[in-house]
Amino acid sequence: VAANQYEGGWDVDGKGPSAADVVTRGSREKARYVTYRTADGQIHADEMFTLNAPEDAVFGVFEEYDYPSHEAVDGFHRYKEDIALFAEMGFKTYRLSINWSRIFPTGLEEEPNEAGLQFYDNVFDECLKYGIKPLVTLSHYETPLGLTNEWGSWTDERTIDAFMRYVNVVGERYKGKVEYWLTFNEINTLDHGGWMGAGVPSTDPQKIAVAGKNQLIASAKAVELLHQIDANNKVGNMIGFMVYYPLTCNPDDIMACWKEMNTNWFYCDVQARGYYPAYKLKEYEREGIDIRLSEEEKETLRKGTVDFISFSYYMTNCAAEKSDAAESSIGNMSMGFKNPYLKASDWGWQIDPTGLRYALDIMYDRYQKPLMVVENGVGTQDILEEGNVIHDQAHIEYLRDHIKAMDDAINIDGVELWGYTPWGCIDLVSASTGEMHKRYGFIYVDYQDDGTGEGARHKKDSFDWYKKVIASNGEDLD
Ligand code: BG6
Repeated sequence: VAANQYEGGWDVDGKGPSAADVVTRGSREKARYVTYRTADGQIHADEMFTLNAPEDAVFGVFEEYDYPSHEAVDGFHRYKEDIALFAEMGFKTYRLSINWSRIFPTGLEEEPNEAGLQFYDNVFDECLKYGIKPLVTLSHYETPLGLTNEWGSWTDERTIDAFMRYVNVVGERYKGKVEYWLTFNEINTLDHGGWMGAGVPSTDPQKIAVAGKNQLIASAKAVELLHQIDANNKVGNMIGFMVYYPLTCNPDDIMACWKEMNTNWFYCDVQARGYYPAYKLKEYEREGIDIRLSEEEKETLRKGTVDFISFSYYMTNCAAEKSDAAESSIGNMSMGFKNPYLKASDWGWQIDPTGLRYALDIMYDRYQKPLMVVENGVGTQDILEEGNVIHDQAHIEYLRDHIKAMDDAINIDGVELWGYTPWGCIDLVSASTGEMHKRYGFIYVDYQDDGTGEGARHKKDSFDWYKKVIASNGEDLD
């Protein structure tokens, strides 16, 4: 889970707002908006993925809008109940993020917020009580808003220092409790607009490139620092992995596909190999983008390569130089063409278990580092039936086929796969649409998009199924 999609309690116990807390509820048909005020007093709401706010924008929360992260699924108050359910399923690990603005409310403080630190102490203790190892994302779309309003967030290199203050504090505090860390969730979402991943109110390629560089430097520094704090720490990156296939065998489509695949590889190349790849530097040169990479920064990147690579995998897409015949497809922050061999979810995400095996194979082949699949699942419209039962066969089928694909990658292709954490183990707010009714969990949460529901938790059919899968270590998938 991600704190902003799960916890709620957005302003409780000293927590400050994060980039996620000013994003409105949307739907499949309606975009999510980011809200801000300009110097003339006007309040604005602009689409999140195409946001280009004026220089005088001050981002904030306004009464007339509905922000789903504020309550989310109330994990802030219900985490004990939820972790008990995860334990009942037999979880060995639980992926969650620390909400940076719970620890440093604006990001600018020198000293952390003790109440925020205590909250995660309680959460981690609760996990460890059941033998569940936390897998912690340091930044999952939760850049403190203060950093955006003060200096433009990750476009300013002072944000690296603010982030390192935070990493140092949580690294020291949770030493011995947390050993598995991820730096930035889906760092490559920066290429789909700056707001979600980095709190950058712009799609300007120069700004995105600089924000990306600053996050890559911060990621490398975090790897080094967490190793210094505890030699047992293992630190990974996290890529939103979108496999592209060429739409046809037309060589132009092969090249179009190669270009699309580089949107997966670029950040991962830097984090796993320790240097900017040639294709990216050439692209910057062509487009007149200047990232001013100093020798010292190059050294930081070289020293801060990750111990393992993690990624999210939901779907695949097709790429073509141009196509009048094929229909375009939508998906996890990406566009492409429809694959006639695949079915899609209700939200249009094309379902492709073989694509996961392929992703694991090419990832392992390229980097030769251990892998983790830290997000995988399908959003469905689950129905809460009388007796509080939910027959979510679509989740079972999706996960079963993807687990089989991982088995093939491990046992036929020899991939070293350290872990698997499906998304999201419990229903939560959708990141792209802000909806509740796009549900992924083994546990149904009774909150609805119209604000009704008390947040009660109910086990879906997939709950018992996944319990059996864990108990048999994936042998029993029926
Ligand atoms: C990933 C994100 O992109 O996909 C998650 O890391 C997100 O935060 C998940 O929830 C599923 O996407 P969505 O839009 O269906 O919630």
